[in-house]
Amino acid sequence: SLREKFGDRFVVGVALGGRVPDDYSPAERRLILGQFGGVTPENCMKMTAIQPVEGEYRFDEADALVDFAQGHGLQVVGHTLVWAKDERTPPWFFRDGDGPASRELVLSRMKDHIRTVVSRYRGRVASWDVVNEALDDGEPYLRPSSWLEIVGPGFIAEAFAAAHEADPDALLVYNDYNVELPGKREKLLRLLGELRAQGVPLGAVGIQGHWELDRIPLDDIAALLGELEALGLEVMVSELDLGVVPRGRWWADGGAHREEIARTDPLADGCPPELLDRQAEQYAALFRLFVDRADTIARVTFWDLHDGRSWLNHFPWEHAEYPLLFDRDAAPKPAFRAVMGVEAGG
Ligand code: G3I
Repeated sequence: SLREKFGDRFVVGVALGGRVPDDYSPAERRLILGQFGGVTPENCMKMTAIQPVEGEYRFDEADALVDFAQGHGLQVVGHTLVWAKDERTPPWFFRDGDGPASRELVLSRMKDHIRTVVSRYRGRVASWDVVNEALDDGEPYLRPSSWLEIVGPGFIAEAFAAAHEADPDALLVYNDYNVELPGKREKLLRLLGELRAQGVPLGAVGIQGHWELDRIPLDDIAALLGELEALGLEVMVSELDLGVVPRGRWWADGGAHREEIARTDPLADGCPPELLDRQAEQYAALFRLFVDRADTIARVTFWDLHDGRSWLNHFPWEHAEYPLLFDRDAAPKPAFRAVMGVEAGG
């Protein structure tokens, strides 16, 4: 299994988007328990899910996941306390009656939320993605948002401080995507430097890892891992998948031809074997890198259990995807066999 193969180097985790265990078939449960050493709730611990209305916490799905994980010796990653995008934060958070909330109000809501959620799972959730996706993709350093506008850049340090206070033993993670790419990489290093200078209790960096077939920036990833190692920070590859649909082409034309592409795309009828083989080679190359850098990488988490459960089937519109190691019947794909064949130094 993946756990036996890599477990002495790094935890191999899986994100679960369904209610655990009821939403999972016996075959899926065997897969979860047979292959993985850790779980991340794909959605149910997000602020929009856990506190959709001020003061009304909905813990039942998250509780079920944590109970299941504990009962089976799986490590839990809490995801995520502050997602630095307005559309990923419940609307009430930034409002006060008919007007905007003040800085003091947003900060106290944030601290209450973090305290309530983290202390509930203290000692049972090993690490938290404290702040998610605060870096901008374009020119600005930090992503424009109400977080930034109302609280200022200090919301990041404040979030880490509140999480640390609620569970001093939890490993606290800053999580983001595309941070290996030039431009965003410099911003990440700047942020980490600033947080460190302020004495923020940051334990690790999450590199999400939503890569694409034929577009894995291996050299950039290796370079970033080297830089993070020099800073003495652990790295989590926190949301790994390798989509086979060339989304870059779709984005490039602004989605203008998306219906035509979706209609004519052969992947709707299944994934051609040559793509699955190419995917297998590329997954193996990635895992060779992870094994070589196992001193720095503490965890590799797949973003969901098998192809049928991937978010990419719904993003940016409904389209069959094949991004993971297991197929829709929970059976191993060529990519699984390729990853299992990876040897250190090979
Ligand atoms: O559960 C409802 C369902 O009842 C409803 O019929 C349906 C209609 O749209 O929506 C369902 O909720 C969706 C939910 O996923 C569960 O499938 C939400 O609309 C949809 O926005 C949500 O998407 C999630 C997304 O984050 C936004 O929270 C994806 O599953 C999840 O994979 C994705 O994960 C993120 C990480 O948290 C952060 N990094 C990027 C990653 C991928 O976007």
